[in-house]
Amino acid sequence: MSTTEPKNTILAAAKVDLAPLEAVVRYPSYKSFDEFIDVERLRSLDSYIREKIKRRILEYDDPKFYTGPYTIREDIAGRPGSRMIYLSESTMPDSYFDLDKTDVWRRSDAANEFTLLMDFIATLPFKATGRILIMYDDQAREVPAHRDHTETEVLHDFIWFRTNLSKPFYMLNFHTGEKKRVESYSAWFDTVNQFHGSFATDNLTFSIRVDGVFTDEFAAGIPKPRINLASTPSYWACRNDQGVFDDR
Ligand SMILES: [Fe+2]
Repeated sequence: MSTTEPKNTILAAAKVDLAPLEAVVRYPSYKSFDEFIDVERLRSLDSYIREKIKRRILEYDDPKFYTGPYTIREDIAGRPGSRMIYLSESTMPDSYFDLDKTDVWRRSDAANEFTLLMDFIATLPFKATGRILIMYDDQAREVPAHRDHTETEVLHDFIWFRTNLSKPFYMLNFHTGEKKRVESYSAWFDTVNQFHGSFATDNLTFSIRVDGVFTDEFAAGIPKPRINLASTPSYWACRNDQGVFDDR
């Protein structure tokens, strides 16, 4: 599904220049990972995770999600209200660029509440994992469109996934204002050359993001752009859209 952002938002975003890209790359776009993961097993965890999160809402004050400074509208930057549960913890001071340094991350106490989820994560195509994060919200609040960082030659191996399709998560082309709803259970997406965010919705919604290092076998099957490494997930998705398929 695609919608178009109001013009004033596009104008605000026009300050952001688009870096050079391979010609095939289009935004908004994302690479579904549903073909590489056990979607049925993931879906079977839905009520398990939902109940655990509901209990945490009553018993804990989980930290608020931070969009980072790269929001599309500076007036709604910051901490929109959705919450985070860290299933791994860094032994280093907080730095965004450590999120895939797998040796600095340790399983957290919270991971012991989500053992079935941790078992599922162990089936994902990572040789090692770094940050593991559940993001949730039980109130109607949007996650403002943002980029995670601005380094076009930095690519993070990660899988974003969810146990149901209710979180209205989208990618945004900041030049055209076009938004594309994520329709799969899992995705790898370009967090630099496009924005991403979530519309507000009344129900409890949640998603999980696991960062790490893909296995050598999995990484070998990923087509790589010659420029703008951060665009790799979109490069892959757009090649597939245009009929170029990978031999796996
Ligand atoms: Fe983000």
